[in-house]
Amino acid sequence: MGVFDSGLGGLSVLRALHARLPEAELTYVADSGHAPYGERDDDFIAERSHRICAFLLARQVDVIVVACNTATAAAIHLIRQTYPHVPVVGVEPGVKPAVAHSHNKRVGVLATPSTLSSDKYKRLIESYAQGALIVPQPCPGLAREIETGELDTPALRALVERFSAPLKLAKVDTVVLGCTHYPFVRPLFAQALGPDVVIMDTADAVAAHTARLCSTSNSQKSAKPEKLETSRRINHKSPSEVHLFSSGNPSHLAEVAKKWLGLEGSVSSFD
Ligand code: DGL
Repeated sequence: MGVFDSGLGGLSVLRALHARLPEAELTYVADSGHAPYGERDDDFIAERSHRICAFLLARQVDVIVVACNTATAAAIHLIRQTYPHVPVVGVEPGVKPAVAHSHNKRVGVLATPSTLSSDKYKRLIESYAQGALIVPQPCPGLAREIETGELDTPALRALVERFSAPLKLAKVDTVVLGCTHYPFVRPLFAQALGPDVVIMDTADAVAAHTARLCSTSNSQKSAKPEKLETSRRINHKSPSEVHLFSSGNPSHLAEVAKKWLGLEGSVSSFD
């Protein structure tokens, strides 16, 4: 399975995938050399996403997980057009579950400027806001700060305070983390927003969806006996293997994956 993000954020999805599918072979690409995506234009994000998908497919991954809300919004339709036979799972802000959960029907959405200005986000709100008040809060600079690997710095706290303030003013009772980097600073948001606000992200829902997809595709494969061994080799290595690639500094990714996830995979360069 291939997983990618603009950088370190997708590790929050990788963690959920690893928990759900402990025997799956996972290849993760962090495009940290080009992060953040959230302040780039769609063409740039699409070009990087294509390059990464081509790399993952050359490594024979059987599913691609776009562990990035920004790349999902800007490029998932293009990736699916280019590779119509490959299952591609994306992530988007969990507006639907947040609206269902909210008591006062006031929901904040924290995401990158690019995600919040996308057509995909507009369609998500049209489909799922269901009369609730949605307060979008772009967070420029936040993913870049998280990319440093330090999760409790004065700069990070200042950004979190700044982006939480309008949500507190709007009296939201539920906040969606609409960027895969943000779960790593959930404790700071929890402090800034206070104990009455519920914070939600979609990592586990995405992992559950991916696991269902894999089990459907495996049961289809096992209906054809001659393919069973191959599908086992590809999808269910044991013990699990995690291969990490970074277009930034590989040793930074190695250090962060160990610190945040306890993962000790080998890390290579990717450009
Ligand atoms: N982690 C990404 C997301 O989920 C993007 C952060 C960025 O590169 O701006 O949107």
